[in-house]
Amino acid sequence: MLPILIKLAYLVAAVMFILGLKGMTHPRTAVRGNIYGALAMVIALVAAIFDAYLHAFSFTPVYIVLGIIVGSVIGGVLAVRVKMTAMPQMVALLNGFGGLASVLVAGGDLMQSIHPPPESLLAVAASGLIGAVTFWGSLLAFGKLEEYKVLAQPIRIPQQQLINVALLVVCLGFAGLMAFGYIWAYIPLVLLASVLGVMLVNPIGGADMPVVIALLNSYSGLAAAMTGFAINNHVLIISGSLVGASGIILTQLMCKAMNRSLLNVLVGFSESSSSGAKADEVYAKVRSVSAEDVAIMLDTAQRVVIVPGYGLAVAQAQHAVRDLGKLLEKREVTVEYAIHPVAGRMPGHMNVLLAEADIPYEQLKEMDQINPTLETVDVCLVIGANDVVNPVARTDPQSPIAGMPILDVDKCRTVVVIKRSLSPGFAKIPNPLFAADNAYMFFADAQAGVLEIVQSLKNQ
Ligand code: TAP
Repeated sequence: MLPILIKLAYLVAAVMFILGLKGMTHPRTAVRGNIYGALAMVIALVAAIFDAYLHAFSFTPVYIVLGIIVGSVIGGVLAVRVKMTAMPQMVALLNGFGGLASVLVAGGDLMQSIHPPPESLLAVAASGLIGAVTFWGSLLAFGKLEEYKVLAQPIRIPQQQLINVALLVVCLGFAGLMAFGYIWAYIPLVLLASVLGVMLVNPIGGADMPVVIALLNSYSGLAAAMTGFAINNHVLIISGSLVGASGIILTQLMCKAMNRSLLNVLVGFSESSSSGAKADEVYAKVRSVSAEDVAIMLDTAQRVVIVPGYGLAVAQAQHAVRDLGKLLEKREVTVEYAIHPVAGRMPGHMNVLLAEADIPYEQLKEMDQINPTLETVDVCLVIGANDVVNPVARTDPQSPIAGMPILDVDKCRTVVVIKRSLSPGFAKIPNPLFAADNAYMFFADAQAGVLEIVQSLKNQ
């Protein structure tokens, strides 16, 4: 009876994982989706404990429970402490540890099995290969996102792509040896795959990092699915495949949002700190305004578009922005929020931030939807955004963000940019929008600045 119940529990968990993903396709059902996913994980873990009780050594369930306790404490503390803006780093670590877990579980299974069949050995090899690439690649990605000095700049290695291909071929050779029963080949395979993981992420940097994180997320899922084949665990196969597939879909969406091909991202060395023009020249004609000036502009506006960016998240200005939006609406101004797909530091960053402040979802407009209408906008408030509104993406083919679709806010009648200085954004390039004829800079912290504008509007 127990084995049937365990299988049934795995099936329920798998269905709930799928429902969880479905729920997360819309902001309104996202919380429910998250709860489904978490419940599915609990069911899968309980089933795994009983599974181990039936099939493994008598003390294995105890190890699993200990692992769950330690993992839950670390995960809980991290989840509470991590800042929203540091989410990509957190995801990088989670992906990496997923990959490492696959390497260890598949390796452990290899040590325990007596005469495993070739297909099982191949699954172990795939798990070790993809898992090690994911672990080391993710650690390097974490270091780059944290801007650790040694790691931030890619190291140029001659014939890097050729070396990568050679490493992959040798890894596949070791995987082949494993299929013929030479299980010692697992160790050199994992070691070389670790080097490959570092080599693959090394040349990538700058605005391409989010794409790499999504890709590594997909790899961690694939590694888990392979481990599922190796240890014959169906829920691991299904959940790993779901992560693998959704990671690849996200990777593709992000490449599209940045107008890059995946190959282009993977070949790397896209990070360039120099664009054609120097900051001093670009910013020669910048005009700055005060909160009162912005309030006067808003007072006569009929349609206002707010563009949130990374700085809004840093300043935690979402509640102040909501108050400004409400105040304007009371004055019968149409207020919309223009959302760029890679604004901030993680996919959906701005949506999450604005949802936290209860800004109605209907007012959030996607880039493709709002861009054709921007010419009729009276005032566009760009709050802590930079790269996603940088017109050089359209005009300078040499720029690191060349071809990336942007919010064409320079076409609005008036643009006010709220940020603390003329410092560049993530791509480290000057932004000619700040000196455009229809643009004004309001130098302030996003939260303090928006609150000042609210106050000035109220005083009028
Ligand atoms: P960025 O181009 O990074 O610009 C953010 C701006 O916010 C900075 O220029 C900074 O200027 C300002 N800022 C920082 N703290 C502030 C504060 N307290 N108050 C007001 N302003 C503040 O942001 P973006 O336009 O959102 O573009 C996102 C960039 O990140 C893109 O290049 C994207 O490719 C990349 N990226 C995206 C993701 C995802 S998936 N969303 C992940 C990683 C990287 P000051 O210092 O002058 O204030």
